[in-house]
Formats: sequence, C-alpha cells, structure tokens
Amino acid sequence: PAATGFVNAPNRDFSQTAERERLAQAIEDVRAKLGQERPPIVGGRAIAPREWLESRNPADPAQVLGRWGVATIADADQAVAAAQKAWPQWRRTPVAERAGMLDRAADLMEARRSELTALIILEAGKPWPEADADVSEAVDFCRFYAAEMRRIDAPVLTQRVAGERNTTTWTARGVGVAIAPWNFPLAILTGLTVAPLVGGNAVIMKPAEQTTLIAGVCYDILREAGVPAEVLHFLPGRGEEIGAHLVAHPQISFVAFTGSRAVGTAIWEAAGRTLPGQTQLKKVVCEMGGKNALIIDDDADLDEAIPGALYSAFGFSGQKCSALSRLIVLDGIYDTFVERFVAACGSLQIGDPTDPGTLVGPVIDEEAQRKIRGCIDTGRGEARLAYQGTAPAHGWFIGPTVFTEVRPDHRIAQDEVFGPVVAILRARDLDEAIAWANGTDYALTAGLFSRRPSALRRAAAELEAGNIYLNRAITGAIVERQPFGGYRMSGGGTKAGGRGYLENFLVPRLVSENV
Ligand code: SER
Repeated sequence: PAATGFVNAPNRDFSQTAERERLAQAIEDVRAKLGQERPPIVGGRAIAPREWLESRNPADPAQVLGRWGVATIADADQAVAAAQKAWPQWRRTPVAERAGMLDRAADLMEARRSELTALIILEAGKPWPEADADVSEAVDFCRFYAAEMRRIDAPVLTQRVAGERNTTTWTARGVGVAIAPWNFPLAILTGLTVAPLVGGNAVIMKPAEQTTLIAGVCYDILREAGVPAEVLHFLPGRGEEIGAHLVAHPQISFVAFTGSRAVGTAIWEAAGRTLPGQTQLKKVVCEMGGKNALIIDDDADLDEAIPGALYSAFGFSGQKCSALSRLIVLDGIYDTFVERFVAACGSLQIGDPTDPGTLVGPVIDEEAQRKIRGCIDTGRGEARLAYQGTAPAHGWFIGPTVFTEVRPDHRIAQDEVFGPVVAILRARDLDEAIAWANGTDYALTAGLFSRRPSALRRAAAELEAGNIYLNRAITGAIVERQPFGGYRMSGGGTKAGGRGYLENFLVPRLVSENV
C-alpha cells in the first residue's frame, strides 16, 4: 500500500532514570491538584448539573480524584440540536483544516503526555507502561485518521471512458455519539471521537463513567486544537440514561461504541429501530468482548511463550478485550508448561499502579471486583485452582488466578471474565486445539506459539479471530500496523486504526459527468 507518511508515536522508556523521574513528578503534580470538577459541556458552555458523582482511585477508593456532573436527557437533546445545526458547515470545512486539528490535538497530547499518563494511572488504575501506551495510541489515532482522511479526500475515478467522468467521493453522515470504555480511557475515546470528526461529522462524547476526568482533558485538547464548540459536545452521564437515549434519538446517524457485549448488542438492536422523524438509517460501529485463546504447541519456545502468555493474560489485570483468557496447551508439553507458567505467576508484581514496577494493578471498581470473584467461584466448582496471587486487601484488587484441568465447555472457558483470570486446557493435538480455540461466540484475538511453519500457517488460516498473533503476545495492537477488531460476537464494523475505518462514518457518492 502507498505510504501515508504516518509514523507511530514512541512510548517512553522507563528504564531511563530521567523518564521515571518525570512521570513520578507528574503523578505528584496530579495528586496535588485533585478535586477538579467536570461538568457536561454543550456548545462550549458548561452546564450546571443537578447531580455530581465522584471519580475515585481504584487502588485507593477512599481517594476522591474529582467530581463530574451527570448530564440529563434534556442536556443530550440540547447537544443533538446544536450539533444538527452546526454539522453542515463543519462538513464543508476543508479536510486540510479538519485534519490539521487532529494533528494539533496529537501535538498537544504529546506536550501533556506526563500529565495524561499520570491521570490514567490514578483514574483507571493502569500500570505505567500501559498508561504510557494509552497516550501513544491516542496520539496515533489522531495522526493516522488525519492522514487517512487526507488520503481518501481526493475523488477516485471509477473507470476511464471517453466522454464521461465518473468519480466517487466520501461525505459525512451527520451527528453521532461516541460511547467509550474505561479500559483505554484516552486512546479509545479519542479514536471513537476523532475518526467521525475528521470526516465532517459532529460528535457527542459519552465517556465511561469511571474515567470521566481523563475524558474531560481529551475534550479540552480537541477544543484547544481548534474543533468548534458546536460540533463536539461532552456529555458524561449514566449509560443506561443518556447513552440509551442518544442511541435511540432519531437525529443521531451513527454510534461509535466500544464496551461490553450486553451494551453493544442492545445498541445494535436499538439503532435498528426506525423512529418517526428519523431521516437516515443508523450506522453502528461496535467493538465488544473476547474469550481469547493462545495455543502452545509441543515444540513452542517456552522462554518466549511464558512471558508472552503472562503479559497477555495479566497485563492491566486482564481488563482488555484483547486479553488472553484461555491457554490451550498441547498434551506433549502441558505438564512442563503449567509448572513453569504457574511458577512465573509468582513473579508478577501486584499492587498500586503508581509504583513503576507494578504489572497487575486494581480492577476498575467494586462491581468489577465482585463480578470477577463470581467467575473465580464458578471456576473453582468446575476446574482446579492452580494459582491465585495475593492481592492487597484495600482497593479493588484481584490476585492473578490460574485454573487448570479446564474443559472447553466449562463456563470458565466460555464466558468473558475481563479480569486477571486464565483457564488452561489440555489438548490432544493441534486439530483439537484449533477447534477449541474457535469454539466460543467470540472472534477477537487469538495466537499460537510454535516452531513448526506448517502449524503457524494453519493457525493463520483456521483461527477464528480478527487479530491473530503468532509467536508473540496477543494484546497491544499498534495503530496502522495491526488494525484492531473482531467479528462474531466480538464486534461489527471495520478495524480501528486501519485502512477503511473512516468509511464507517462516511457515505460514498458517485458523480457521473458528461464531458
Ligand atoms: N487494542 C487493544 C489491544 O490490542 C485492545 O483494545 O490490546
């Protein structure tokens, strides 16, 4: 493919003392300024909310980081009306200008990188390297979608014929809502917002309740980068209230969503219902969960496979839709693998994510902790609890947990946990391993560690997953390099951070001119 000129933002290298000191200082600075308030913002104006909710540090829930105002249905209606009025002009704004705003937003994020990373660590409980990567990904989404929009802006000739010029172009859909998750509180919110924006759509940001403060900074940065107040609205609030209301709103033309399967399928359905006053079919871009499997072949290099599996399963406490949740190990290496894997679990550093060495921080909130504990209880009834790490008693922690002797039909092998829990299955051969890997409702990420080229080729051809990883970890997709997203019950829509993603938020037009 032709180069877009896009370059990924580099992550910070925390083995360097100066980098460590810089982020440690930023964490202190953010802590010193706690207590900010984030009201909803419609048309650039802050709305005095009737209700405030607190944002708390999941590693230390007694610590209130700030407060956010709960947007109401009336606020949502006002945002839609303002956006409806403004988007036609935004659509006419030259792509060079709109894309330039995304590039400026990327520069602003880089300039405020330490502060953003610190806030992600405190509000989402994300460990240092992953919070840092969250910022890199947000920067990448801005620059990549800017480059993509410039690339697809030029009319494309469909066929060369005498006397007629036929070209296709893309145009905006209208007003949409970006409903974002808490687990990539900057990156995914940014991606879901800027992709439709750069295409000339107006966007209502509905951030995750748990990470509203970081979302507020994202909104500020986009506005500072030049995005007009009328085409970007900030509506923190309860998903079941304003989220559901916006999805069903007749003047919303698209929904960009990443989150749970339950919410995603409800959005898909609600958006399919055509209401009085609606003038176009709604487009839904929906990224949901996974039950991601990694197969370990008999001849796998365990020095690579074990750290790859550990990181995929337990990085950010397994709270990624891409996280490893089923390890399918071939019989010939099963005992050795399990022994080494369980021993390696003992080396995982669990604790407060403000400590740079932490790999496993807290889970996002009490409800998540309760739900994951419930899954662990179910697992105990079905399989063998081979390892459970000790977690701090204070804060929403769950120790990394490993089940062995798991059968493919066990609930612990079928239901998404979204926590630091991995199920290990013993497969007779590669046929059985691939069949089991494919034997869930999901198709998001999957992988294989093997030294056999034929096995690697089979995995590439036969694994049902949007993102297949061979001889490496199965999380951490990089913008443009590894376009991200699945199918089956993992999602609908084309890949985030990939070619074609912007087309979700655009409509194609053909112009045929007699010349
Ligand atoms: N894009 C992330 C990853 O690849 C998940 O959302 O891990």
